[in-house]
Amino acid sequence: MTTVEVFAPAKINLTLHVTGQREDGYHLLDSLVCFAHVGDRLTVSPAPSNQLTVTGRYAGAVPTGDDNLIWKAAGLLNRAFDVTLEKNLPVASGIGGGSADAAAALSAMTSVMNCPMPGLEAQLSLGADVPVCVMGGLVRMRGIGDQLEPLDTGAFPWPMVLVNPGVPVSTPAVFRSLASKTNAPMASPFELGPSPIQMDGFIDWLAQQRNDLEAPAKELVTEVGDVLDRIQAQSGCLLARMSGSGATCFGIFAEDDAARSAAQALSAEQPDWWVAPSIGPGF
Ligand code: C5P
Repeated sequence: MTTVEVFAPAKINLTLHVTGQREDGYHLLDSLVCFAHVGDRLTVSPAPSNQLTVTGRYAGAVPTGDDNLIWKAAGLLNRAFDVTLEKNLPVASGIGGGSADAAAALSAMTSVMNCPMPGLEAQLSLGADVPVCVMGGLVRMRGIGDQLEPLDTGAFPWPMVLVNPGVPVSTPAVFRSLASKTNAPMASPFELGPSPIQMDGFIDWLAQQRNDLEAPAKELVTEVGDVLDRIQAQSGCLLARMSGSGATCFGIFAEDDAARSAAQALSAEQPDWWVAPSIGPGF
């Protein structure tokens, strides 16, 4: 029987500008998204009925019932599957979680069944971040997550360290606490494609952009400020910022070794936190 194994990388919002709100409550975003070298793993094969086995550090936090997005993905294809999920990423943590798994599940399921990928609206019905996770790479994401512009660069070249303090964050609660829903989009003059991104000055440009959800997340989860300060204090850290609605934050480093050392130091400082270096070739 055909079995497919897929990687579900952590989604990182390098920027996340909230530029408006629709009448249905969803927020309009302008976000630069990349994917890390750490993530969950799914093994998928066709089966007479749905069956899910969950392993990994965060296995206990995964809902195994019909509400799991993996089964909503299977529902879009009208098929049943045997799925093993190695849950390495913390849940409710701003780095894709369920959306990353749902996107990877769609990719694996369509591959084993040799059927087409469901369209944008169907992907969106699973979650606003699912389409960008299906696309992968380096992407400018606008609308509620439905307007995607892949950026023609083979790589987001810098190593990163991802840090989560172990406090789950409710995305709707963070959006509700956001003081202003209409903020400026990502700034020019940095030219974000479609031609290859010029990496010179990119970190400087990035530092001038924002994650608008950082302030409300810091108010709701006091650990977020501590996480950012500790990452920023590491030698060689070019930029520290929160991803999504938190509480996971990332640091960008110039060198692999600096990222490795920072991850070791942060783990030693806070042994209970999830600390993951993301090091590898471009995406
Ligand atoms: O689409 P998803 O289920 O991942 O979104 C979770 C929650 O985050 C939504 O119910 C909504 O409250 C909020 N959200 C939002 N605007 C977005 C994406 C998510 O308000 N663009």
